[in-house]
Amino acid sequence: MSNCHVRPLLVWMLFWTSMLPTVSNQAKKPNFIIILADDIGWGDLDANQPERKSNNTPNLNLMAEQGLRLTDFHSPASTCSPSRAAILTGRYGLRNGVTHNFAVESVAGLPLSEVTFPQLLQKEGYYTAMIGKWHLGHNGPHSPTNRGFDYYLGIPYSNDMGCTDKPGYNLPKCPPCESAGSQSIRSLHGGCYSKLGLPLIENSSIVEQPLDLWSLTDQYESAALKIIHNTSARGQPFLLYMALAHMHVPLAPAGAASEGVYAASLKEMDSLVGTIKSASDDTEKNNTLIWFTGDNGPWEQKCQYAGSVGPFTGKWQTNKGGGSAKRTTWEGGHRVPAVAYWPGRIPANASSSALLSGMDIFPTLLSLAGINPPTDRGYDGMDATSVLLRQEHVGHEFLFHPNSGAAGRFGDLQAVRAGKYKAFYITGGAEACGGATGRPQLHDPPLIFDLERDAAEETPLEVHTPEYQTVAQRIARKREELLWDIATDESVSTADYRKEESAAPCCDQRQAVCRCKTLD
Ligand SMILES: *[C@@H]1O[C@H](CO)[C@@H](O)[C@H](O)[C@H]1NC(C)=O
Ligand SMILES: *[C@@H]1O[C@H](CO)[C@@H](O)[C@H](O)[C@H]1NC(C)=O
Ligand SMILES: *[C@@H]1O[C@H](CO)[C@@H](O)[C@H](O)[C@H]1NC(C)=O
Ligand SMILES: *[C@@H]1O[C@H](CO)[C@@H](O)[C@H](O)[C@H]1NC(C)=O
Repeated sequence: MSNCHVRPLLVWMLFWTSMLPTVSNQAKKPNFIIILADDIGWGDLDANQPERKSNNTPNLNLMAEQGLRLTDFHSPASTCSPSRAAILTGRYGLRNGVTHNFAVESVAGLPLSEVTFPQLLQKEGYYTAMIGKWHLGHNGPHSPTNRGFDYYLGIPYSNDMGCTDKPGYNLPKCPPCESAGSQSIRSLHGGCYSKLGLPLIENSSIVEQPLDLWSLTDQYESAALKIIHNTSARGQPFLLYMALAHMHVPLAPAGAASEGVYAASLKEMDSLVGTIKSASDDTEKNNTLIWFTGDNGPWEQKCQYAGSVGPFTGKWQTNKGGGSAKRTTWEGGHRVPAVAYWPGRIPANASSSALLSGMDIFPTLLSLAGINPPTDRGYDGMDATSVLLRQEHVGHEFLFHPNSGAAGRFGDLQAVRAGKYKAFYITGGAEACGGATGRPQLHDPPLIFDLERDAAEETPLEVHTPEYQTVAQRIARKREELLWDIATDESVSTADYRKEESAAPCCDQRQAVCRCKTLD
């Protein structure tokens, strides 16, 4: 008899004791805004090179003054898809399968066996939104809304992988979308896609094709502001992953470009970052981590439309011919600007030379959100919360840089950092401004540079010095260990890089030009 009275009370009490901690004691989980610029150079951030006295990035400079500038931060690869895949999974391409870029005709993308940090945040109640360039597969299950994002607005791949009615600045210049003709929509016109309109995708639908390059920044901005305001009004923690079209060609700065097209674009990007920061400061200040960085170094062959590598000029390579930025494992290819900002949590006006990587974003965000990643796989990123929040400048003991196209087999770990030293097993130059390339070259014993003395990577250490011998032994041992670890990782994925014409995003396959917007 008494049971009948006790049970409802017990249920009621259990209900309340389980509700109370979440309502009153437990702090709200932090929001994350990850801003990834495209093809930006380490030297493009004014704060990295104050002696140049340029004023292209006032908002980022301010963010650095109110936060932490990471000076030895590296993109996980030197081209787009592998870099983004490694950021989202916290793993090298040799594990996650993405070792080179996907194409407009790619049928697949980031392997579905891979787990992304947005997926894990989403499962724990975060609203996850992505704005911008995806480039990890645009078909069916590979699209952003199936890989962990509640909302998506952006371009499925790079902004030069499709035509527009009013082209931006590129070298060579691409013509507007052709209006007639019967060839394949994928026919290239001097390296330009002249019959495949560049699509703008919202969630999983094409909303504009071709999109308008010149108003894209405004569209990204208003979507970002909506997300920040909406989620903050709902009291839901959010992840906003903004993968900007800036600084990848074609550049399309809205303002008059008296200072040059590249500088105008950089200022435009900086102002977009400033607007996002203000929106976050107005709503969720002190509860939002903003982390700005880049996907790889500047695309040197674009000459005046490419960014600055700063002092990381890769002279050993450029002296022999060939570029030393994007697509290479020279510093200019993967050392990128990075600023972390979180008022009240990250000390202001600080900088750190801890050796860090874009792969660290995965474990760091999960750690800050109190989420454990799946334990059935190996990871290559490290939890950098102590660098961010406690000024402990301890980064990776070793960091490997995979080949991204300039030499050898895609994804191979052909350069290694150990402290101030960097070793190359293989070198190669990408196409430079003017067209020169550097041929791939094997190094046994490896070339070793001291980046502290020689940021330009010009003069390798003498092989017979004790300094060289010590470093070479440590690095060789570590490389064996890592390769063994990857070989025995039970969750290594293989990406499907097959291409089919019908896989390209197209509003209307029957038309001569892939478009769903009429010319006015
Ligand atoms: C995308 O999803 C959001 C909700 O998450 C919805 O408000 C919006 O209308 C969707 N857009 C399209 C084009 O389906
Ligand atoms: C934000 O809220 C507005 C107004 O409620 C709504 O129209 C819009 O679809 C929401 N957008 C997103 C991205 O959630
Ligand atoms: C944010 O944190 C700073 C430093 O702890 C504090 O001075 C400021 O009042 C906080 N702002 C808000 C809006 O909570
Ligand atoms: C930031 O630090 C630099 C020196 O590292 C100093 O010159 C500058 O005044 C500081 N700025 C602020 C706003 O404290």
